[in-house]
Amino acid sequence: MPLVSMRQVLDEASKGGYGVGAFNVNNMEQIQSIMEAARETNSPVIVQASRGARSYSQDRFLYHLMIAATEVYPEIPTVLHLDHGNSVETCQSAIEMGFTSVMMDGSLMPDGKTPSSFEYNVKTTREVVEMAHAKGVTVEGEIGCLGGIEDGHGAGLDGLSHLTDPDQAVAFVKQTGLDALAIAIGTSHGAYKFSKKPTGETLKMDRLIEIHKQLPNVHLVMHGSSSVPQDLQDIVNQYGGKLKPTWGVPVEEIQLGIRNGVRKINVDTDNRLAITGAIRKVFADKPEEFDPRSYLKPAREAMKKLVALRMTQFGQAGHAGDYKPVSLAGMAEKYAGDAVSV
Ligand code: 13P
Repeated sequence: MPLVSMRQVLDEASKGGYGVGAFNVNNMEQIQSIMEAARETNSPVIVQASRGARSYSQDRFLYHLMIAATEVYPEIPTVLHLDHGNSVETCQSAIEMGFTSVMMDGSLMPDGKTPSSFEYNVKTTREVVEMAHAKGVTVEGEIGCLGGIEDGHGAGLDGLSHLTDPDQAVAFVKQTGLDALAIAIGTSHGAYKFSKKPTGETLKMDRLIEIHKQLPNVHLVMHGSSSVPQDLQDIVNQYGGKLKPTWGVPVEEIQLGIRNGVRKINVDTDNRLAITGAIRKVFADKPEEFDPRSYLKPAREAMKKLVALRMTQFGQAGHAGDYKPVSLAGMAEKYAGDAVSV
């Protein structure tokens, strides 16, 4: 099947009461890991690429790898999503290239660092919604700012500096007509999220629940949702890595989020750790090896294992065949006819 709309995947997740992992990619092996995990667990998938990933993989390579994924795994509903688009133009180029979903992150200015005004965020997100929906493409927006920096994008602050205000979130959804809303509840991108296991003081699940109460029909998105598992940290450090002690978002907190309107869960760091640990192990155990396949294969396997586990924990496992995907043209008609509520 062709790449599908993220809106449909999230609507179905909402009906089924489960969440869908959105996994970041930069290369062929990562795409293969995700698709293999999806087949093994029979899951719909969201594959996402940041601006940094698009530039690293040179856009056209990425696009054709994703087309290959739909050919090799025709039974899996697969979304190609732009992570943290920094401007209307970035979202436009992604849509032109064939992304079926885009994030317009107007919570920051186009430099990807400076927090913006509410008015700027509404204006740019609204513009992307109009452009995207005309083509059946899904739009994620963000209100409040995450902490940390990922691929050069992020306010670089701690996760608590710009938490989402629930009333502002309501106004933002109404004024933009977006499909999915990323909120800031204390998480940040990257490995160093929390200096100890998060509590309600540092990971504001109560804020998420409050937002869901006010916006019960809106698909919420949790960014910065890697759990940074201790065993993955240990493998990296055991084979020469130098990760400092750190904590991520516990899976049970994500599951609490899923029970309260979270439908998309962004995970990148955990996969980076799994890949790096596997490669370091081969380099340490077999220093005579120099065929890239000798370390890329275990790296691919390690990421697949982790993605399959998350798909099961988020609840998307078993749901790949639940529905018949609507074409993007069909989605555009639904948006034009107001058949999709926003
Ligand atoms: P992690 O760094 O926690 O994996 O978050 C990734 C993310 O939110 C991508 O947008």
